[in-house]
Amino acid sequence: MSEKISSVHYINYLDLDKILESQHPISKEKGVEAHEEMLFIIIHQTYELWFKQILHEVKSIINLFKEDKVDESSMGVIVGRMDRVNKIMTTLVGQLDILETMTSLDFLDFRHYLSPASGFQSHQFRKLEVTLGLKIKKRHQFGGCPYHSQFEGEKKEEILDLEENQSLFTLVEKWLERIPFLNMDAFDFTTKYEQAVNQMLDKEIKGITEANLTDSDREIRIRMIEENKKYFERVLSEKQHNKAMEEGETSLSYKATMSSLLINLYRDEPILHLPYQFLRSLVELDHKISTWRFRHVQMVEKMLGKKIGTGGSSGQGYLKETVDKHKLFTDLANISTLMISRSYLPELPKNIKDTLGFNYTK
Ligand code: HEM
Repeated sequence: MSEKISSVHYINYLDLDKILESQHPISKEKGVEAHEEMLFIIIHQTYELWFKQILHEVKSIINLFKEDKVDESSMGVIVGRMDRVNKIMTTLVGQLDILETMTSLDFLDFRHYLSPASGFQSHQFRKLEVTLGLKIKKRHQFGGCPYHSQFEGEKKEEILDLEENQSLFTLVEKWLERIPFLNMDAFDFTTKYEQAVNQMLDKEIKGITEANLTDSDREIRIRMIEENKKYFERVLSEKQHNKAMEEGETSLSYKATMSSLLINLYRDEPILHLPYQFLRSLVELDHKISTWRFRHVQMVEKMLGKKIGTGGSSGQGYLKETVDKHKLFTDLANISTLMISRSYLPELPKNIKDTLGFNYTK
């Protein structure tokens, strides 16, 4: 029996009547329509639609990480979805250019109608932050109230639940701790890496000693390398790493840090391509959100100067603090400090290389 194909109409499928009838400039209701208010509303609505799509992608990535095993095919899907999220973020940063065609004077034609409405009440933005890993104790506080006091009922419950749930940060940390590459057969990565670093720094000291430099120049350069050595020792000591975590200087566990270092160093091995791209995409997302925060502050500066926000914060002062403080994957970005050139990279034993290379070349 052939199934009758129901006809879908563009307008109904997209529920366009509902969407296109959802712009209600208050200035118009009050009798003096401010031309720019339509843009203000549409831009915010567009952001919220894109937030919805980003949440859809991030939630699906979280579900894949909750599986016992994150295999190669899931990794491919995860990397593809992260790429999409990052592309959306690029658009979200770009959209501020459109809003900035509105001037501060235009904004004042309707701003007085908006209080106490504010970006603080964007439930989806808060959900996104918390889902990625920005939990309450990491936030920059403004005033005495927690950020979720802006919400009530089910909306507040949802945020409080997310605060308790595992975030993408936590799941990625656990995944990095689980991946089996740190201690492969006879290859102890941390020891081998430490030896390579010492070899590299000793060579640098030798080069400086033999170079044609003044005594004070030589002394300064050698002191810099000694400092560098101490830095590597601190990072490679689990005890010191845990102390740095307690003091809030770093967030990612020792084991997860070592795994991401290994992935970054041996990214040329086929099995590590996707994990490497994924780690890179997290840093990129962090940077894009941070760029959005920065561009938003610049826009606020142009629109409001030093006026306080309609949500009751100090406005640009508060927003500026969040640009760096609300970054989540800084520890992954900082792995670059630990990179050594390929010429010093400890060679992997053949059996391990074969495993990491999927045996393609056998
Ligand atoms: C004329 C344009 C805009 C101005 C003057 C403005 C101003 C502000 C101010 C002053 C704050 C601080 C909170 C407060 O006290 O209200 C804020 C927060 C926020 N705004 Fe905007 N905003 C504008 C456009 C936008 C747009 C287009 C979005 C897109 C969704 C947005 C999203 C947010 C979000 C999510 C926050 C919370 C940020 C955080 O707590 O980290 N804003 N905005």
